[in-house]
Amino acid sequence: MRTEDIEKSQEYFTSTVALVTAKSREVANVMSAEWSLRVSLDPFLMAVFVGYERGTYDLIKESGEYGLSYCSDQQGNLAHVAGNNSVRDGSKFKLADFRTFKPKRINAPLIDGAISNFECRVIDEFKVGDHAAFIGEVLTAYYDDSKNPLVFHGGKFFHLGRQISKS
Ligand SMILES: Cc1cc2nc3c(=O)[nH]c(=O)nc-3n(C[C@H](O)[C@H](O)[C@H](O)COP(=O)(O)O)c2cc1C
Repeated sequence: MRTEDIEKSQEYFTSTVALVTAKSREVANVMSAEWSLRVSLDPFLMAVFVGYERGTYDLIKESGEYGLSYCSDQQGNLAHVAGNNSVRDGSKFKLADFRTFKPKRINAPLIDGAISNFECRVIDEFKVGDHAAFIGEVLTAYYDDSKNPLVFHGGKFFHLGRQISKS
């Protein structure tokens, strides 16, 4: 049954979670972002929307770059920990099994075990309501076809369901 409710309707999106990494002045961090997506094919651009109060906002602003590691369905715990703790209270990397690998084109580490990773250089930033939109040029990217994506819906994490027919 259809119900009109502007607040509750916001719980019915389905997306995934990116682990956004950023590093400045030797401080590296990881935060969860549901709001991150490809916004241009050529040039290949990825956007991430970051609250101004996040420690991550300062780190991206200072360094002009960020990593996006899209969670596999084995990384729900990482998405939870990175999204419910702040670098302002100390490093998150020791709070869970955040394994990283060395990036090629940026300074921020990337998260191992993700389904895909993107190294991005900020080319634009603007305000969108209560969040900053960072637009990043993708400098290099990786994928792992042995992984399945983490599905985020109604504040909970799920595996991807079965494929359905288009006809
Ligand atoms: C699943 C999930 C998705 C989130 N998505 C976003 C997002 O897209 N943008 C954002 O600014 N914060 C988002 N958050 C909140 C931040 O991850 C959270 O405030 C985090 O503690 C900020 O960490 P920092 O201060 O170390 O940057 C999300 C949190 C969770 C759990």
